[in-house]
Amino acid sequence: MTTTAVEQPQAVKPLLEVSNVTMRFGGLTAVNDVSLTVGEGEIIGLIGPNGAGKTTFFNCLTGLYVPTEGVVRYRDTVLPPKPHLVTQAGIARTFQNIRLFANMTVLENVLVGRHSRTKEGIFSAILRGPSYHRAEAESREKAMELLAFTGLADKAEHLARNLPYGEQRKLEIARALASDPGLLLLDEPTAGMNPQETRAAEELVFAIRDKGVSILVIEHDMRFIFNLCDRTAVLVQGQKIVEGDRETVQNDERVITAYLGAPLESTTTAVAETVTETDQ
Ligand SMILES: Nc1ncnc2c1ncn2[C@@H]1O[C@H](COP(=O)(O)OP(=O)(O)O)[C@@H](O)[C@H]1O
Ligand SMILES: [Mg+2]
Repeated sequence: MTTTAVEQPQAVKPLLEVSNVTMRFGGLTAVNDVSLTVGEGEIIGLIGPNGAGKTTFFNCLTGLYVPTEGVVRYRDTVLPPKPHLVTQAGIARTFQNIRLFANMTVLENVLVGRHSRTKEGIFSAILRGPSYHRAEAESREKAMELLAFTGLADKAEHLARNLPYGEQRKLEIARALASDPGLLLLDEPTAGMNPQETRAAEELVFAIRDKGVSILVIEHDMRFIFNLCDRTAVLVQGQKIVEGDRETVQNDERVITAYLGAPLESTTTAVAETVTETDQ
């Protein structure tokens, strides 16, 4: 069969589409009418001073908070504001304050993250039939792969609480990846890391993206953000004041004054120095 119809390019729908999200706590508007998209394969940055509403915004995306207003769509479907349903839909996250099971092993922590993807129910677990054992073996294999990917394979049997801080952050990422997400939200992944660990974390984020997982990342480390991100949005007092590539963000006077909160001249220099450093 021949056809003369010219193929129309399909408009690519974003993976994540946040529309006009507002979150109020009593009289405080923590997030104010924020819209943001993350496309397939993108790494998007979210920056802003402490208290700007970044973590609250993540909580609105992941069902921890029900936004006062606004809609969150993932793969063109409105997300129900329930954390386990958001995870099932394909969004995983890490927390600014690390949330690991301290007295479980590294491997067990990743297995917990895998839980949302295993079909084995409680009866199967009690009966421990062949399908339970098969599923468990597969989960372990997958978890060990993720530990190798994040550089923690030799720590599999260590207790999570005995890991150094930087490795606990990596373990949180491994656990988040265990749910097979299409989108990973990272809340200050390099907080508390030394410079070498931070550079390694950049490589890890790129490697995750190369696996086909899109990323939305909150960070204070400008060098990290501008090395990694295709676009960066800036939140100030709950509002998105600018969004764009590195030049757009770094040259925006509102960012320089509001975000850095220092006299214009010196902050321009500070931002320019960040650029120079990242170019090295
Ligand atoms: N559950 C809550 N109840 C009341 N206020 C909150 C709650 N969560 C966050 N806030 C407030 O919302 C604002 C934004 O906080 P947050 O999202 O943690 O900022 P950021 O992550 O950008 O540092 C802060 O003023 C904070 O005190
Ligand atoms: Mg925060």
